[in-house]
Parts: sequence; structure tokens; C-alpha cells
Amino acid sequence: MTEARRQTEVLQVNTRCPAAADLLPAALALKAGGLVAFPTETVYGLGADATNPAAVAAIFVAKGRPADNPLIVHVASVDAALALTQDVPAAARVLMQRFWPGPLTLVLPRAAGVPDIVTAGLATVAVRMPDHPVALALIQQAGVPLAAPSANRSGRPSPTRAEHVLEDLDGRIDFVLDAGPTGVGLESTVIDLSVDPPVLLRPGGITTEMLCAAIGPILISPGVDDDHAVDRPASPGLKYAHYAPQAELVLVEGPFTRMVDVVRELIHEYRQEGRRVGVLASHESRGQYAATVVLELGSRQQPAQMAAALFACLRAFDHHGVDVIIAEGVPPDGIGQAIMNRLRKAAGGRICRVEDPQTG
Ligand code: TXA
Ligand code: MG
Repeated sequence: MTEARRQTEVLQVNTRCPAAADLLPAALALKAGGLVAFPTETVYGLGADATNPAAVAAIFVAKGRPADNPLIVHVASVDAALALTQDVPAAARVLMQRFWPGPLTLVLPRAAGVPDIVTAGLATVAVRMPDHPVALALIQQAGVPLAAPSANRSGRPSPTRAEHVLEDLDGRIDFVLDAGPTGVGLESTVIDLSVDPPVLLRPGGITTEMLCAAIGPILISPGVDDDHAVDRPASPGLKYAHYAPQAELVLVEGPFTRMVDVVRELIHEYRQEGRRVGVLASHESRGQYAATVVLELGSRQQPAQMAAALFACLRAFDHHGVDVIIAEGVPPDGIGQAIMNRLRKAAGGRICRVEDPQTG
């Protein structure tokens, strides 16, 4: 497909109570095969009519996304999800009841009508009902399920504000619905229910602890809690570079006080090499660092706030023009599992593990 230049129009919409008239141009564009970026509770998505293969193909072109990486189909009801899937196990119904609308994507055997381009030819389809009034209203008004990846250029941090969408996709899509910053800030949890036991493919706002409490034990896919390069990953998206700011990112993991010491040592080393150093710090540690730029993700007591701020901070380092970013790790439980998953991917293997002096 050729890369047609498009005029991108930003529509301001009310977050809690979007007016049908404000969404109308975007809904009409979707029906006509266009591309619309819209807010969800996780990140902004880039939507197209999931039943229109040409429209879906344009998503891959706009993002520069590899064609073998399938898309999530967004629906406004459980029934719409059931129409796209088949052989839905009881555990999937439990999760829909408990966590939808919400930041949880279910991978299920696909129904015959789902276009190949949406699922990259897989026998499964990923479905999710987002918990955002604008997303739900747009899906309803368009009258079709929306295939929607995160609305960033492939490999970049996902957008949590309309401005981030424009940074990456201005001139490549038809509309951006601007309803302010998203809430969760990290993409949805993805769990594969086409296998038994279910497999967590991507951690997110619905935590592993919440999933296990609802449906019992699940498996964790390789690559979720480690920086394992997987040749044949369960989720095609797991093998691509992700969330990368322009500067290289080094992740430091370990017990807090040791970690702070190591970050300080690294800052010193990089500065001696004449590099501009950015540090992704926490409220508790930011005063410890004499770097070129120190950005605070939030308090370690409030990991959900750290999650919400992560992608905007990664993008902010681009504007500061640093050469290297040193990021502090966080404890990998609850939403911390998702934060660490994204930081490890952003680090692309540049991880410094600090031993606990007691156990190490
Ligand atoms: O929160 C979110 O999920 C956001 C918003 C817009 O809803 N969307 C999002 O989409 O993050 P995307 O395309 O950036 O990530 C979708 C992930 C990819 O890792 C993809 O490989 C995986 O879901 N995926 C999609 N369909 C799949 C399938 N049938 N089997 C396994 N993995 C699948
Ligand atoms: Mg994405």
C-alpha cells in the first residue's frame, strides 16, 4: 500500500460525557475506512474498522508495524466479543464479567469472519472492552469493532496524551480524539485463554495476582519477567524492540539503597565520558542524583502513579536531548510487574542487576 499523506484533525472531546456530535466526524471516517486515534483507559489507540481489511492494512502502514504482529479488536459489549470468537472457555467468561470494561485483553479462538490481517493469520484473536467513555461511545457510533494498536510509531513508547500521538503520527492518520491524559498509562494485560492453563503474554493494569484470584493458576510467558529474547514467542509482539526513547536506556534492578549507589556510580562514569545523562528516579531518590536531567516517576509508595507517568517521562527525555538514560527498577509485584516489563524492553538488554548484600 502506498503511504498517502493525510490531513490529521484534532477533535477535543469531553472525557466523561462525550457528545455524539463531537465524535461524528471520527465515526464517519471509521465507517469509510479511515484511521482515528482515540483515548482508552490504558493508552491512546489507533483505530480502524476491524471488518475492513484495507482499513486495517492502513494501520500497519501508518505505524510502520511489522505485518506479523496482530492487533487487538476493541468492542463495546461482551456480546460483540463473543461474535468475534468461538469455543470460549468458562475462565474467559469469568474474566469478562469481572474485569470488563477494563485493561484486560483476552486471546481466544477466532470466529470465521475475522479478517486475516487483524490476527496476522493466527487462529486466535485478541479482544478487549476498554473502560473509557470516549472509546466506548466511538465504537458504538462507528457501529463496528475497532482494531487498534497503541497509537505510536512502531518501537516508540505508547502515547498517553494526544500530543504524543501527533508527535508520531501527524499527517499519517485522519483524526485524533483528544480527551486528555489516559489513566492506567501502560497497555492492557494480555492473557491467552486458547490454551489450558491460560498464559499471561503481557502484564498490565489487571495484575497477575488479580487474574489468579479470579481463575486460579496461570502460566507466565517467557519474556514477561525477564529480558529473554524469544525466537518463537507466544505473542508476536514480544519479539520486537519496544518503548524505546531516542537515547539508550540502562535499567538498574535491586534493593533500593544499593540500587541508588549504583545509579550514582553510573552517572559519574557516564559524565566523565562527557555524556549527557538522564535519570528516571523516584520521589524518594531524586535528590541523590547529580545528572544532566532527573525526572521523577512518582513515589515508590504509589506504583500506579509511576505506571501512569512512565511513557510520558520516556518521551520527555527525547526533548531534553540526553545521550543515555539510567532508570531505577521497582519491586516487580502488582502493577510493578508491568512497569518492570516495559523498562526491561526499553533497556533492550542493558540491565544492571545489583545483588542484595545479605543474600548475594
Ligand atoms: O491497552 C492496550 O492494549 C492498547 C489500547 C489501545 O487498547 N493497545 C495495545 O495494542 O497495546 P498493541 O498492538 O500495541 O499491543 C497488542 C499486543 C501485541 O503484543 C500483540 O502481539 C498481542 O497484543 N496480540 C494481539 N493479538 C494476538 C493474538 N491473537 N495472539 C497473541 N498475541 C496477540
Ligand atoms: Mg503497542
